[in-house]
Amino acid sequence: MIREAKPSDYESMDSVFRASAKKLCTASYDKEVIEAWAGKSWPERFVKGAKEGNNQYVLLKDDVVVCFGSINLEKKLLVSLFVSPEFVGQGLGQIMIEFLLDMAKSKGVEVLHLDSSLNAVNFYSRNGFKEKARCKYKTQNGVLMESVQMECSL
Ligand SMILES: CC(C)(COP(=O)(O)OP(=O)(O)OC[C@H]1O[C@@H](n2cnc3c(N)ncnc32)[C@H](O)[C@@H]1OP(=O)(O)O)[C@@H](O)C(=O)NCCC(=O)NCCS
Repeated sequence: MIREAKPSDYESMDSVFRASAKKLCTASYDKEVIEAWAGKSWPERFVKGAKEGNNQYVLLKDDVVVCFGSINLEKKLLVSLFVSPEFVGQGLGQIMIEFLLDMAKSKGVEVLHLDSSLNAVNFYSRNGFKEKARCKYKTQNGVLMESVQMECSL
């Protein structure tokens, strides 16, 4: 089940984010970069996201947050999508991205943008996103990471 994230979910979302980044992004980034990005607990990243106008959603299994996704309709930007490492490969990321794409389309977004981590580029390509440029992306906590700018026509 997917529902809008509440402030009481932010701790769980932060745990999903940090575990996912540490486990699933390590093949693509140096240990120091991952540590700077996801080493410290910082649930307030989602308070900041909400203030910036991000719509944040959680996917629950047995009442536990196992995936979250965030989209900014005004900026036409898919902000983030993370699956808990114990739950990858079970189709949850796919459910979340379809949910976010459907929402963007229903709100009249014609082209959706994102900055993909290097490890997720193929996942987004499979979902209609095309590579536009390689760049350095500044994360919410100020870490510069190699990423790929992508866009999808809806
Ligand atoms: C990328 C991510 C969201 C995928 O979630 P997931 O739940 O494992 O993906 P799913 O199980 O829904 O996979 C859907 C399909 O995509 C494929 N797929 C999943 N991850 C993939 C990847 N990194 N590259 C290529 N294909 C991928 C699956 O094989 C599956 O294909 P199938 O339908 O033919 O079986 C997840 O691995 C993740 O959280 N990664 C770390 C965080 C991250 O980098 N997020 C993006 C930040 S911008």
